[in-house]
Parts: sequence; structure tokens; C-alpha cells
Amino acid sequence: MKFTHDSIERSVGLLIILTVLVVSIGGLVEIVPLFFQTSTTTPVEGLKPYDPVRLTGRDIYIREGCFLCHSQMIRPFRAETERYGPYSVAGEFVYDHPFQWGSKRTGPDLHRVGGRYSDEWHRVHLSNPRDVVPDSNMPAFAWLAKNPADAAGVAAKMRALRKVGVPYTDEEIAGASKQLEGKSEMDALIAYLQGMGLERKGAK
Ligand code: HEC
Repeated sequence: MKFTHDSIERSVGLLIILTVLVVSIGGLVEIVPLFFQTSTTTPVEGLKPYDPVRLTGRDIYIREGCFLCHSQMIRPFRAETERYGPYSVAGEFVYDHPFQWGSKRTGPDLHRVGGRYSDEWHRVHLSNPRDVVPDSNMPAFAWLAKNPADAAGVAAKMRALRKVGVPYTDEEIAGASKQLEGKSEMDALIAYLQGMGLERKGAK
């Protein structure tokens, strides 16, 4: 059989195989170099793996679907950097598995929200956003204050993250669940928010 355009289009099996081949080459060329570029794999200065409390808060953020309304990626455009702060770089997310960049912004980007408000502001806002932002259409997450944070599961999460390259030490993992004692899910979520984007907050 001759490989003419016509014969390929008429043979569905061959068309599928060749299409998959071409698409995978395109994908590999785009994706594979990123694994080897130091700017995407080296943490920015000062970046530390999430401590047990923040890690737990991050999982609550994912569970509650905060990412459905909030991105964590400030683009390098003036309108964004004036509003949110220095644009995001890949090295800030090397310990994020999975990252929460997103592109849906029903609410504002949260990447540099760390330190912007007090813990108490977040507590009021998460319990009922309308109490601090009257026009807000963000849902209330008041029950998080009543749920105890998952102290039992955190060590296993850290061990799993270590397998994908997050440098937790044995001592950190051993002492993890203790740090969550007496903390509510709201405490953990606020700790997560308050640490967000601090490493490059002053960058240009
Ligand atoms: C249905 C969409 C929606 C969801 C889901 C949502 N938010 Fe929001 N969020 C908003 C909107 C809209 C605003 C802007 C108004 C306001 O401040 O309440 C906002 C504002 C915020 C702010 C203040 C940001 C700033 O810079 O002023 C924080 C912090 C925040 N949200 C955290 C969260 C967290 C944490 C969750 C998950 C528990 C969450 N949001 C879920 C829509 C949402």
C-alpha cells in the first residue's frame, strides 16, 4: 500500500495510529524539556516544603473546590502585577503536588494573598464572606471551624510527597500529627492562605 494522503484518510486504523504518533511527538517536545529546565525544577530562594498544618490546609482548599473560583498564578501583565503583586514563577510551585494554578477567576487570584489580611479577617470571611465584603458571592465555609484537622493522616501524606521529591525529613514526618493537635480545619486553611506567595512578595 502506498502512503498517500488519500490512502491514509481511507484507512481509519492507520489514521488513528499516525494521528496519535504526531500528537505525542508534539506533546513530548513541549513537555519533556520542562523536566530538565532548572528554572522549573529549582525552588525559589526561601521556599520550604509545606509544614504539616499548611499541608492539611492545602488539602482542605482542594477538597472544598476553592480552585474552582480562585487561580494561583499571577501573569506577567501590568494589570495583574499592580493588583496582585509580583508575577508567579515556576520555582515557587516545586513542592505543589498538584499545583493550583488554574485559570478560572470568579474570585481574585490568591497566589500572593499571604499576609494581606489578618487571621481574624480570614476567619470572619470564611465563616460568612458577606460580613466583610457585602457584595461577595463566595460561599460560606463556616463548618470548617467545627471540624478538627486531620492529624492522623498527615504523616502518610508527607511520606507520599517525599516519594515525588519533597524533602521531608524523618523527624518532620514523625512530629507531624502533633502539630495539628487542637487545630480546626479552619485554622489549617488560614495557615495555608497566610503563607501563600511570600517568598517573592517583594520581587519586581
Ligand atoms: C463560587 C466561587 C468561590 C468559591 C468556591 C470560593 N471563593 Fe473565595 N472568593 C470568591 C469571590 C467572588 C471573592 C471576592 C469577594 C470576597 O472577597 O468575598 C473571593 C474572595 C476570596 C478571598 C479574598 C481575596 C482577596 O485578595 O481579597 C479569599 C482569601 C478567598 N476568597 C478564599 C477562598 C477559599 C479558601 C475558598 C475555599 C474554601 C474559596 N475562597 C472559595 C469566590 C469564591
